[in-house]
Amino acid sequence: MTAEPILQIRGATRRYASRNASLWRRRFLNAVDGVDLDVNEGETLAIVGESGSGKSTLAKLMLRLDQPTEGAVLYRGVPLPDLDRRQWRTYRRDIQAVFQDPSSSLNPRMRVEQSLGYVARRHELAEPSRLRAFLAGHLAAVGLDPPERYLSRYPHQLSGGQQQRVAIARAMMLEPRLIVADEPLSSLDISIQAQVLDLMRDLSRRRNVGFVLISHDLNAVQSIAGRIAVMQHGRIVEIGADIFDAPAHPYTRLLLEARLSVDPREARQRLGRPTNARTSRDGSGKQPDATASPGREDAGANASGSVSQDEEFRSAKEK
Ligand SMILES: Nc1ncnc2c1ncn2[C@@H]1O[C@H](COP(=O)(O)OP(=O)(O)OP(=O)(O)O)[C@@H](O)[C@H]1O
Ligand SMILES: [Mg+2]
Repeated sequence: MTAEPILQIRGATRRYASRNASLWRRRFLNAVDGVDLDVNEGETLAIVGESGSGKSTLAKLMLRLDQPTEGAVLYRGVPLPDLDRRQWRTYRRDIQAVFQDPSSSLNPRMRVEQSLGYVARRHELAEPSRLRAFLAGHLAAVGLDPPERYLSRYPHQLSGGQQQRVAIARAMMLEPRLIVADEPLSSLDISIQAQVLDLMRDLSRRRNVGFVLISHDLNAVQSIAGRIAVMQHGRIVEIGADIFDAPAHPYTRLLLEARLSVDPREARQRLGRPTNARTSRDGSGKQPDATASPGREDAGANASGSVSQDEEFRSAKEK
């Protein structure tokens, strides 16, 4: 990890005209309100907070999909609007995005090979003669193995988890330093969430790529993040490495009290009911392995090559 943060957010405010504003009485809302935040290279920083607290707006400012009304976002010390052509090109490769709904971030009319090939050609990532092998290597790296099978598929022929892997592969092709992932797990089947989370953890370790992970799932966040920032009403009310162990802000405590436990026995204890070891999937009382093999999503592939997530979830539950 280098000393200089890859992104610095300085006094950033994003003000919107309120959605129910009339012409006569304009009202404004600070979706992001005076946020200061450093994102260090290689770190996994999670952003949590209630719905409407400004997490996605902050992510858009980082990705330059939106601009602050006040304050600034700096990439390697330079405010985003001041980046010259070369710095802008580096920024566009270094900072990648992964969104909640993987199907909407892939063109439904393009096979995986065309979608990824388009990005690779645009950024001149591989010689034309090596392009297919280049794409296959990146699919294999996110656990889509054998990659040739996935290159020829359309997005609708992939499960949600596989689509999200393709979206992550597309981001990883550019060898980014930071992936801003806005709710990358929440549209996925619960049995696949742990696998995608594990892939992110693996990429962070092996490739030293950093993540800004926005998630409602506090358990997922706690399992992966080095630092956690808590947002409320557009502000960061608390940030740190161990704020879930020792929350200082009342809102952080409230979030933690409201979270559902991953351990059914703990939840039952909190509800004052007797614990029951059979609530675990395998009857051993242990929780499912979050490090399950990434390729496992394809175990339920049917004859046409597509996967029913429902079937997969059912079989996971029956185990
Ligand atoms: N384009 C916009 N115009 C007006 N208001 C907006 C716009 N985008 C977001 N907002 C408002 O800004 C606030 C923060 O929205 P944002 O999407 O950042 O929240 P969030 O924390 O990502 O919520 P969620 O967890 O539901 O995704 C909300 O009150 C929202 O209604
Ligand atoms: Mg959001």
